[in-house]
Amino acid sequence: MKIEFLEEVGSTNEYIKRYLLSGEDRIVIAKRQTGGKGTKGRSFLSESGGVYLSALNFYKNFPAENAFLIMAHAAVAVSETAESFGLDPEIKWPNDVLLAGKKLAGILVENTIDGGEVKSSIVGIGLNVLNELGELKEIAVSLSEAAGRIVPLDEARGYLIENLQRKISFDDYIGRVRFLGKEVRVIESGGETYFGKAVGVNPDGRLEVERGGKSVLLSAAEISLRI
Ligand code: BTN
Repeated sequence: MKIEFLEEVGSTNEYIKRYLLSGEDRIVIAKRQTGGKGTKGRSFLSESGGVYLSALNFYKNFPAENAFLIMAHAAVAVSETAESFGLDPEIKWPNDVLLAGKKLAGILVENTIDGGEVKSSIVGIGLNVLNELGELKEIAVSLSEAAGRIVPLDEARGYLIENLQRKISFDDYIGRVRFLGKEVRVIESGGETYFGKAVGVNPDGRLEVERGGKSVLLSAAEISLRI
């Protein structure tokens, strides 16, 4: 696997797109980003001390309906990285990895889909390791803060790269989504809010919620969730 290290870049996800026609898997890592991209068009704070990584992977015969497995794989790799430091992370469906309710990492997946198949994916991960979180301190946490010791950046980066190369099963993802079986508050993008019991995550990535005796399948793009 080719790995490219950068001091500073706008966004590793944007940078790695120059290799989209290469057909060769690759990882790009930056020390900091000046225009880090988050989900839903948000920006992602990317000061020195975090791992900002994008992995470009090419696939053959990968049905687009299984694309969520790419996201699940990344969330498990981040979780396993935190577990290597004795921590106990959970995955907040679909793509956040939390420690004691605070966000440890963000994941942004951008796929190229053609003819019903995923041809390539860019998995962008921003992992807080020893970066100052400033005003995000109430909602975000770093590996160092959670572990109560300085976690070396290269150690965290090494585990993350290693974990990204490993195969996982969907159960590795499901087992870390701790709110399953519990009541959650669903906020629809139209504004409607209701309570329901989260019962599962389908392999297509939709969350199954029981609402008034009926089962509904929710897509992350259309709702937000309070646990
Ligand atoms: C989110 O939680 O909203 C997702 C954040 C994803 C951030 C990572 S950092 C590396 C890669 N490059 C980007 O610009 N974004 C992703």
